[in-house]
Amino acid sequence: MIISNFLWIVSAIASLASAVECPRCDFVLCRNYQERAVNNYIDTWNGDFSLENITFAPNVSLYQDRLPGSNGSIELPIGTSSEFIKFMKMAHTGWNHYQFVVHNVAFDKYNVIIRWALNATVGPHDKMIIPINKPEGTHITYNGTDWLYLDHCTGKIKQVDSAQDYITALHAQGLTEIKI
Ligand SMILES: *[C@@H]1O[C@H](CO)[C@@H](O)[C@H](O)[C@H]1NC(C)=O
Ligand SMILES: *[C@@H]1O[C@H](CO)[C@@H](O)[C@H](O)[C@H]1NC(C)=O
Ligand SMILES: *[C@@H]1O[C@H](CO)[C@@H](O)[C@H](O)[C@H]1NC(C)=O
Ligand SMILES: *[C@@H]1O[C@H](CO)[C@@H](O)[C@H](O)[C@H]1NC(C)=O
Ligand SMILES: *[C@@H]1O[C@H](CO)[C@@H](O)[C@H](O)[C@H]1NC(C)=O
Repeated sequence: MIISNFLWIVSAIASLASAVECPRCDFVLCRNYQERAVNNYIDTWNGDFSLENITFAPNVSLYQDRLPGSNGSIELPIGTSSEFIKFMKMAHTGWNHYQFVVHNVAFDKYNVIIRWALNATVGPHDKMIIPINKPEGTHITYNGTDWLYLDHCTGKIKQVDSAQDYITALHAQGLTEIKI
């Protein structure tokens, strides 16, 4: 507690120095803020979509690998917070349970890096929108890494670079052949 208050004061002083280049700065970079960014991001992924506008900049972009689909992989460009929320809703579709768990976090100023695990349970096959070759009820887990870039002025997430452990994920989903 004492340490985090100390950090808060130190970063408050530091932010005064940047106030000139960022006249409408409405957040102070500190460990609490970085942790809040992680919690808001993970909570949004876990279904609290009401956090959209306190978590993301309106024009947040997501960079990630292509997604496997039954007719070949697809690219899903995301350049706004509403597209991001739509993508999250799509990712949830069909699973009986779909939840991200945080394994590790690293912070470097406006960069926040999360090592996560998906903790999910396969739903009815006719409801799933990704190809999956495991029976309903199978527990599926794999890890991935998301790098969040915080906006210097608002502290909101302006970019996410996301990488699943893809080959592990495809194995967990029972896929051995996939069109790219
Ligand atoms: C976020 O802001 C946009 C633009 O103002 C709005 O359309 C959207 O409904 C808001 N989302 C939430 C969850 O309040
Ligand atoms: C997002 O919007 C901010 C503020 O309007 C702007 O400075 C930034 O260049 C935009 N980023 C992208 C990727 O369009
Ligand atoms: C894949 O292609 C088949 C045949 O063209 C089509 O019927 C099916 O709807 C397509 N599936 C997806 C997910 O696009
Ligand atoms: C993962 O999900 C299962 C339910 O499918 C739950 O029992 C378990 O506690 C979850 N694990 C973690 C680490 O949240
Ligand atoms: C995911 O990461 C955790 C912690 O680093 C590790 O214990 C676990 O074995 C990993 N799971 C997979 C499926 O790679």
